[in-house]
Amino acid sequence: MSRAPPPPVPDPTKIFQPGLFKGKVVFATGGGSGIVMEMVKAMMQLGADAIIVSRSKEKIETSAAELSRETGQKCIGLSADVRSPPQLKEAVEKGVKALGKINFVICGAAGNFLAPISGLSENAFKTVLDIDTLGTYNTVKATMEELKATHGAYIHVSATLHYRGLIYQAHASAAKAAVDALSQVIAVELGPFGVRSNIVAPGAILGTVGMNKLSQKKDGEDQMGEAMLGRWGQKSDISCMACYLFSDAGAWITGHKFVVDGGEVHTPPQMASASFPYPQAVLDPASVADLIKARL
Ligand code: COA
Repeated sequence: MSRAPPPPVPDPTKIFQPGLFKGKVVFATGGGSGIVMEMVKAMMQLGADAIIVSRSKEKIETSAAELSRETGQKCIGLSADVRSPPQLKEAVEKGVKALGKINFVICGAAGNFLAPISGLSENAFKTVLDIDTLGTYNTVKATMEELKATHGAYIHVSATLHYRGLIYQAHASAAKAAVDALSQVIAVELGPFGVRSNIVAPGAILGTVGMNKLSQKKDGEDQMGEAMLGRWGQKSDISCMACYLFSDAGAWITGHKFVVDGGEVHTPPQMASASFPYPQAVLDPASVADLIKARL
C-alpha cells in the first residue's frame, strides 16, 4: 500500500476567527526571526498588537516594521538581552507604555550550537543555560505582574531534544529540560492569579536556524520528512498551536507540554542517530568536524 499524501500545511488565518486577538497584546522574546516571529505574525493577523524583543536593535526594529506592514497591527521592536533583568524590565515598561498592557508572553529566545561535552567549555554550557533557562526565568519575572493584571498566559518555546540522549546537545538539553520544569511551577504558582503557562515543543521545522544546525542535510532533503507524517514541520504548525493555547480554546489548559513534531519522537530514524554516524561521532569527533562546521 502506498502512504497517504502529506497533511495540509495549516494557515492560522483560515482556521481561527478573524479578530480573535483584537485588543490583546503579545510580548515575545526572540520575536525578530524564525518560529517566534511567525507565532507573533499569526496573532497579529488575528488582531493582536505586539512587542518583540531581541538582542540586535537594528534587526528587531526591521522585523517589527515588517510585521506591522504585513498585518496592519502595531508592533514595537525593542532591543534587550534576556540575560539582563534590567534590560528586560525596561523593555516591558516601554512596551506597556506604548501599548497599555501585556496579555500574552512567548519566551522564545534561545541559543544553540553543536558540541560534544569534551569540546564544551564551562562558559559555553553556561551561556546556553543563561539564554534559555535564566532568560525564561528573567522574562517571567519581568512580565508576571502584567499577566496577573490581564489574566494572561505564557508559552515557552522548548524542544524535544532532551526527551532522549542527543549527542552534541548537553547544553541545550539541560537548558530546555529546566524550562519545561519551570513552566510547570509557573502554572501552579500563577494559576490562582488567573495566569496559565504551557510549553510548546517544536520538532524539525523547515527554514529555521535550529533545523539547519541539527538536521542531517539541507532543508527537506533527508529521509526524516518521509519517516514522519510525510512532510517536514512548517512554522505555521507551531503558530497554530500558539493561537489555540492563547485563545479561549486553551482556557482550561495549563502546566502542560505540547509537542508539535509530526510524531518524530516516536518515529525512526530519530535525529539522535540520523544526524551523525553513531558511535563514530562520539568516539572520534574530529571525523565529523566538517559536518558540524557546515551547520554552525
Ligand atoms: N562550539 C563550542 N563552544 C561554543 C560554540 C560552538 N559552536 N559557540 C560558542 N561557544 C562558546 C564560546 O567559545 C564561549 O565559551 P569560552 O568563553 O569558553 O570560549 C561561550 O560559548 C560563549 O560564547 P559567546 O560567543 O561569548 O556567547 P554569545 O553570548 O555570543 O552566545 C551563542 C553564543 C552561540 C549561544 C549565540 O550567539 C547563539 O545561540 N546564536 C545562534 C542562535 C540560535 O542558534 N538559535 C536557534 C536555537 S535552536
